[in-house]
Amino acid sequence: MDKLLIKGGNPLVGELAISGAKNAALPIICASLLCNNTLSLTNIPQLHDVATMLRLLGQMGVVVTIGDKGTLTLDGCKLDNPLAPYEMVKTMRASILVLGPLLARCGEAKVSMPGGCAIGARPVDQHIKGLQAMGAEIRVEGGYVLAQAQRLKGARIVTDMVTVTGTENLMMAATLAEGETVIENAAREPEVVDLANCLIAMGARISGAGSDRISIQGVDRLHGADYPVMPDRIETGTYLCAAAATRGDILLTRASPALLDAVIDKLREAGCAIECQPDSIALKAPRRLKSVSLRTAPYPAFPTDMQAQFMAIDCVAEGSAVIRETIFENRFMHAVELIRLGADIRIDANNAVVTGVPALDGATVMATDLRASASLVIAGLVAQGETLIERIYHLDRGYERIEEKLTRLGADVRRVR
Ligand code: EPZ
Repeated sequence: MDKLLIKGGNPLVGELAISGAKNAALPIICASLLCNNTLSLTNIPQLHDVATMLRLLGQMGVVVTIGDKGTLTLDGCKLDNPLAPYEMVKTMRASILVLGPLLARCGEAKVSMPGGCAIGARPVDQHIKGLQAMGAEIRVEGGYVLAQAQRLKGARIVTDMVTVTGTENLMMAATLAEGETVIENAAREPEVVDLANCLIAMGARISGAGSDRISIQGVDRLHGADYPVMPDRIETGTYLCAAAATRGDILLTRASPALLDAVIDKLREAGCAIECQPDSIALKAPRRLKSVSLRTAPYPAFPTDMQAQFMAIDCVAEGSAVIRETIFENRFMHAVELIRLGADIRIDANNAVVTGVPALDGATVMATDLRASASLVIAGLVAQGETLIERIYHLDRGYERIEEKLTRLGADVRRVR
């Protein structure tokens, strides 16, 4: 298994272009199931999860053509196998995003239940409840969700909690339902808006995306479209945290700073000088960061996907901070690995009290999930000596060519087999 060997101490300096957003690309790729024409996408990130989703749709009959520089075409005309098998779903929970589109397009779907994952049980009951409200007959048997529907009917759905992929699944299903669907308590994440904009380009009638109330007027069919996927705000935030932790000075281009207000506010509170343009963001770090407390919550509040990366910053900042994780029940696994590097962290249920130390010491650590891995990379970049991160397949799921990008910014990092 690949490992990442990092020699800490180099400040990140220079310019880097941000890739397309994983969490927008995944649902948008699934939108191709809704039409029998060609969906042409650009700014698709070269990620393990994207490759998995393309394989999943390919075995359903979608014609996938991968171009160069992040271009991709998907043609759903030959979709004839509405099945998402366990072998593929178990490696990527986002596979559940095929359920709504398959039901809407084919009237049936057999999708393996996504297992839990390291950060939590992550059930899909809201996805199922919403589709049942639209008239689907759904039962869970042998680890599979078996769903059928003559034609979905518009409904008013109130999700019990804010769910990003739940909102996306229901919104996609509703585009071809009969009548109006209203999703109350909808997720407001920018990736939901990006999906809505792509669906609208395909002929869907959607209003309110980005608010907590989304209304979808069903239509008989959708058509193909050309669509550029939005920049990855979490990749952007990750590199900002890495530069902040290493006294760096970076410029990130092809980014969308307007989608990162909560993260930028916290980085400024930590002492970073940040300049934003419409599609770029520059950060200059202080010599020593100040500890900053935070609480994760649905967009536009501080994103849970940035919690681990910010904990790494607080490990080397001046003072103490409290980090509260309110979205997932087990998203502090990076803490025990950071402690191996010399961090001072005390966990109490979903609170972590982090007291900054003068320096971290390199060690061998283990990645447990995607964003925890990013946290360990940031810590390794600032730790004294060498840090070896094991199980970095987690990183490859969500960060495109991370060692190449970090090296370009001056880091001493290489992948070892
Ligand atoms: C999406 O996951 C993202 N993944 C996650 O990013 C992100 O952490 C999460 O949203 C929160 O922002 C993708 O978009 C592919 P949720 P999702 O449904 O949709 C509970 C990354 O690092 N819940 O918003 O699976 C759930 O257990 C990944 O890129 C139910 O109880 O998250 C959680 O506690 C990690 N029942 C909370 O809601 C449901 O039916 C929010 O989950 C659905 C969710």
